[in-house]
Formats: sequence, structure tokens, C-alpha cells
Amino acid sequence: MEEKPLTISQIYARGRENLAQRGWTRRFPPQSSIGAQVEANRKYLDNLFFEPNYFDPVEADTGFNIFGTQLKTPIFCSPLSKVEDMSENDLTDIARGVAGSGAMMMLGIGGSRELQEAIDTGAPVVKIVKPYRNIELIYEKVREAESRGCAAVGMDIDHFYGSLQKGDLIMMAETFGPQRTDELRQVISQSKLPFIVKGVLGVRDAQKAVELGASAILVSNHGYSAIDFTVPSLIALPRIADAVGDKATVLVDTGFQTGNDILKAVALGARAVGFASPLLLAMGVGGAEAVALLIDKMTEELRRTMAATGCPNLSSVNRSIIVEGPPLW
Ligand SMILES: Cc1cc2nc3c(=O)[nH]c(=O)nc-3n(C[C@H](O)[C@H](O)[C@H](O)COP(=O)(O)O)c2cc1C
Repeated sequence: MEEKPLTISQIYARGRENLAQRGWTRRFPPQSSIGAQVEANRKYLDNLFFEPNYFDPVEADTGFNIFGTQLKTPIFCSPLSKVEDMSENDLTDIARGVAGSGAMMMLGIGGSRELQEAIDTGAPVVKIVKPYRNIELIYEKVREAESRGCAAVGMDIDHFYGSLQKGDLIMMAETFGPQRTDELRQVISQSKLPFIVKGVLGVRDAQKAVELGASAILVSNHGYSAIDFTVPSLIALPRIADAVGDKATVLVDTGFQTGNDILKAVALGARAVGFASPLLLAMGVGGAEAVALLIDKMTEELRRTMAATGCPNLSSVNRSIIVEGPPLW
């Protein structure tokens, strides 16, 4: 066996390979579907349909106010961080595109340089601090967000025993830890900025976040990189929105791709929708300009379907415009 410990999926894959080389012809069951929550989110989104209201079309306004800032669209860039495949300027290019289209930018793990560069683009910027085991580091990052002029700050509580990378490989478990509620309450109460708890997928965590003083909750599976097989965010959303009511702003991300996806999420209780992978893809097409183009196109599609479903503004959108398709599971 190799020196570096294998993950569960690597043990199965390597076992298949090695035993096949030894002439084994036995069929083994399929491997578990890592990341099924993201696939399920997509499947669920595509099974929601709009009931049009063509005889009463309206002019639709996609404007949206959050943390005292007026945005043109209920779209935000979900917390991004510089990963190994990115160049120095990629994150700033995305922030520039976000600023150009009147959306909001969130940044995750990372240093002062990219935070300041994002702020300098003029986009409202939110800093999502990691759930560090070192509480002093959390305070330091929150204070930095305040002093540099972020619109809000928050924490992705779902990386509490590290993050899942490349399938089921867990990374940084020694750096990120579960947060004690008394400590988090203290962090939130000392922060001068609105606080977002990211990674909530159930009513209990949502209520707890509100009770700890959070201004917003980001319902999220963290893409493929938190706990596998957690409830898909769109399925978790309506229950959380009902439980939270107007006590906090409810946001959602993971797997959204279009303006119609946004309208579905807003109908199910979100105030705004986060996009990470789609903005990376746009950045790959043509930097800031393509990021702004994608956001504008999604906003245009959102506006058109809002008009067709008789929704003049985002606060008038509700579940009555949605018809669910045949049961999927
Ligand atoms: C390159 C990359 C870096 C990310 N870094 C962070 C991070 O530092 N903090 C965080 O809370 N989420 C981070 N995320 C997760 C996203 O904010 C988001 O929750 C997730 O990607 C799901 O959205 P998507 O389906 O639109 O990609 C990152 C995602 C990507 C793709």
C-alpha cells in the first residue's frame, strides 16, 4: 500500500483495479455517488415549472436591497477564494464583473490583498471567515473586514471538520473546527457588520443562527466540498424560510445556473441567490466582461419570467407561481 492514506473511494477504485489485474472477474456494486446533493439540487430545480400569467403581464423590477445597499439584481458571487488553478488576477476580475453588473461579491478564505482589490472594484463585498479553531484569527479577520469597509461578514460553519476536496479527501481538519455557540455569539455581537451564517441546511441550525444574532443565513451545500449527502439546499430552503420568517435574510447557493433558477429560489423563500462555479466559467470565457455579461443575461431572464408570471418586483414573488413536476424520488 502507498504511504499516503487512501480515501474510501480510492480504496474501492484501487481494489477494483488491482483485483482485475490479478484476473478477478467478479462484479462489484457501483461506487457511492459522491456529491449527490449537488446533482439532486439540479434535478429538483429542473422539476419546478412556472405557471404563466400571460394575460396580465407586468413590468418587472429585479432591484434588491441588502445590508443597506441597493443592488440591480438578487445575484451574488458566492464566497470564492484563490485556488491553485487561479492566476493572481482571476478573483479581482470576477469582482470587477460583479461590480459592473450591480451585484454583490463574497470572498472566502484568503488574505488582505484580494479583499482590498475586490473592495476597490466598487462592488459591495462580504467576507466569509472560515470556522478557524483559533478564535483570535476569527476576530482578526472580522476586524479586518470592518476596517476595510466590507458590507457584511460571516462564517461558513459547514467546514467544521475541514473541507472535502477531490471527492472524499478531507483537508484542513486541523485548522477548521466546530464553533462553540457562546463564542460565536460573542463574535457576532462584537461585529459592527451584519453577520451571515453560511452552510445552514436545517431548521434547527437556522433558528440557532438567528438566536445567536445572525442577520442573514446562507442555505448552502458548499458545492461538493462540505459534508456529502446533506439535504440539497433548494429542498432545505422553504422550511428554513418559513422558520426564519422576517427575523433574518435568507440566501441560497449550490447548483444554480440561470435567471429562471433564481426565480424558483426566490419563490421558495430566498431573497438572493449565490453563484460560484458559473462565475468561474464566465471568467474563463473572458474575464470581468464575461462575468458581467453572464450576470446581466441571468438578470434579463429573471426579469422576463417575472413579467410572464405577473411579478412586478421580488417581494411579490411567492410559491403560487411554481408548479412541481411528477415526484422524482
Ligand atoms: C474555487 C472555489 C473556492 C471557494 N472558496 C470558498 C470559501 O473560501 N469559503 C466558502 O464559504 N465557500 C467557498 N466556496 C464555495 C462557494 O461559495 C459555494 O458555496 C459553492 O461553490 C456552491 O455554489 P456553486 O454551485 O455556484 O459553485 C468556494 C467555491 C469555489 C468554486
